Amino acid sequence: MSIKRVLFVVAMEAEASPFVSALSLAPCKSVFPASLPFRSFSGSHNGLDVTVVTSGKDATYSTGVDNVGTLPAGVMTTLALQSSSFDLCINAGTCGGFSRKGAEIGSVFLTKGAAFHDRRIDIPGTPFKDYGTGKMESLSTTNLQAAIGAHEGICSTSDSLDHDERDDERMEFNDTSVKDMESAAIHWACNICNVPHFGVKVVTDIVDGERPSAEQFMENLGSAAKKLQETLPKVLNFVAGKEIKDL
Ligand code: ADE
Repeated sequence: MSIKRVLFVVAMEAEASPFVSALSLAPCKSVFPASLPFRSFSGSHNGLDVTVVTSGKDATYSTGVDNVGTLPAGVMTTLALQSSSFDLCINAGTCGGFSRKGAEIGSVFLTKGAAFHDRRIDIPGTPFKDYGTGKMESLSTTNLQAAIGAHEGICSTSDSLDHDERDDERMEFNDTSVKDMESAAIHWACNICNVPHFGVKVVTDIVDGERPSAEQFMENLGSAAKKLQETLPKVLNFVAGKEIKDL
């Protein structure tokens, strides 16, 4: 059966807004209870029903700060997937990239898997170590990659923008190409809801370079969101009329 209904999960408003506007998607109220901060937009593109969800703003610390990280991402994705039936979930957003894996500022990576790099539960003789790492395989998107000229790689997730030596060891061990703060949580929700999934991530900062991620991230967020706006319609145009196995 060909793919008809696509859910995009995007953490930050700045990452989602240019794409939502480019596709003229309208706010929709049927996805989340009104009391929750999450936001949703829907419309159609090239014969596909498209829904975009974002995690909204935090009301406790500042009305202007986005709900980033694994907790909002996991809850938002699970609720969205329970609200309706989707054929495909795409996690779209920004990431830090490793230059040793070919990443440059503005590179587009399609994720072929996810893992956590700060869930250290090393209890010998138990499965908690592997559970903590939480390695998950995404859909194979070889044809899509070739069509849009993207890189592919594993995305590693934690609730921190920065990273320390222990994170670095784990990311290297897991063959990580890019890191973010949501992918593994979104992937986990897709797995429990049995919805095929992959990520489209644009690099805002080089993790194994000289400069702090925060500085590079603020510099490049706008251009990365523009890149997402250009890339996501190409992804949708490729997906339209295809089956999951054709991606
Ligand atoms: N989002 C963009 N850059 C990131 C990084 N270096 N780490 C985590 N999330 C990010």
